[in-house]
Amino acid sequence: MQAKRKGSSFNMMSSKRKLESIFLFVTGKCNARCAMCFYAKDMDQKAPDLSFDEIKKLSESAGEFNRLWLSGGEPSLRDDLPEILEMFYRNNHIKDINFPSNGMKPDRIVEWLKRLRSSCPDCNITISISLDGFGDTHDTQRGVASFYKAVETLKKVDDAFKDDGQLLKNIATVITKYNVEEVMDFMLWVFGRFNVSTHTIEAARGVTREDGVKVVTEESLRELQDKTALYNIAYADRIAEGVDSGIGKHIARFFYLGLMRAMYNIRASNIDKPTPWGMDCTAGETTLVIDYDGRFRSCELRPPMGNVRDYGYNIQDIVQSAAMKQEIADVGHGYGANCWCTHGCWIMSSIVFNPGKMIPMLLKSNREMKKLNRPFSINETVLQDLETKYRLDRDKLAQIGLVYQ
Ligand SMILES: C[S@@+](CC[C@H](N)C(=O)[O-])C[C@H]1O[C@@H](n2cnc3c(N)ncnc32)[C@H](O)[C@@H]1O
Ligand code: SF4
Ligand code: SF4
Repeated sequence: MQAKRKGSSFNMMSSKRKLESIFLFVTGKCNARCAMCFYAKDMDQKAPDLSFDEIKKLSESAGEFNRLWLSGGEPSLRDDLPEILEMFYRNNHIKDINFPSNGMKPDRIVEWLKRLRSSCPDCNITISISLDGFGDTHDTQRGVASFYKAVETLKKVDDAFKDDGQLLKNIATVITKYNVEEVMDFMLWVFGRFNVSTHTIEAARGVTREDGVKVVTEESLRELQDKTALYNIAYADRIAEGVDSGIGKHIARFFYLGLMRAMYNIRASNIDKPTPWGMDCTAGETTLVIDYDGRFRSCELRPPMGNVRDYGYNIQDIVQSAAMKQEIADVGHGYGANCWCTHGCWIMSSIVFNPGKMIPMLLKSNREMKKLNRPFSINETVLQDLETKYRLDRDKLAQIGLVYQ
């Protein structure tokens, strides 16, 4: 029987701002060397990861909160990750887990997801596999040959959780100088070959490992986002297919397209220079970042304010600390620090806490998406032509079970 997605904390509007999302960098270790990685410098410090017992103290003091966003480093390299997630589920009643991975460990990921779906039955899990382009492009951007491993992971996750509405599958692509020219083709191929729920594109941000990889401007990003809108609409339709009632389908589509387009609009406005988002940024009020070595921050782009060790690993003490109060005052909802950024996770995390701004934004965004809708043709010949054009190894794709020879 198909498992229905539980009410996501993501679509819930709230005017009461309280800690909703913890972004936990579970490890500083990684098996890739991505050119655009914003975390390369932090990982180069090679500080030890927080231990399970240290994370346990954080969980025990955090109280209830909705969303746990994993990050790193590569989360699948952390052997005790399932135990960590189960602990947050038990102690903090989390409703959504976002699990990003470079997909280099297919069997481990599928095994862990199966375990988590059984041990955390009321939790929605989004597995987000990074795939940055076709074959060589992906491998060049990632600094290691990993394209076929990531494809294998996606295929195995697809097969194992076909009808599971509580296991959302996302593909995350970061736009850089390496893949910008092939994004349209790539999104088409991904849509045709995988049964994933969503495919998000992020513009590279922050300080990257390699200089000069950030190439998009406001103009070129807007153009790209408009051109790829047809795929967002196709994903919205795919999501709506999994919803039973007619009205439910409309609501799912409205929220998905509205949130996606609103986030993309804000992001484009901020690629060249900081531009107010049209709503408060709630970093620090509703979000907390904990780095792998225990430093904590209000968002990924703000400097650390201290280390959880100095607060006895007590999250309540941290969120009520003088340092956090000062940080929230300094950020001033984005207007104070004028640090308006392109970070999709924070734009999304803030929208729901700005209910008065959210509905008009979603209405406008849906109107824009409607105008950008275009039919597109996708069939086996189109997909095979793309595989030839980008020199994919069809024997390997066949071994993975993605294509038939
Ligand atoms: C930091 S990674 C951690 C998870 C895992 N190691 C991975 O690469 O998927 C989380 C996401 O951030 C993306 N990312 C890395 N550097 C980025 C940058 N400079 N700008 C935007 N996204 C970036 C990655 O591609 C990945 O989708
Ligand atoms: S983006 Fe992810 S996989 Fe790539 S180097 Fe950074 S942490 Fe590792
Ligand atoms: S606007 Fe961006 S950089 Fe500034 S506090 Fe919010 S999320 Fe952080």
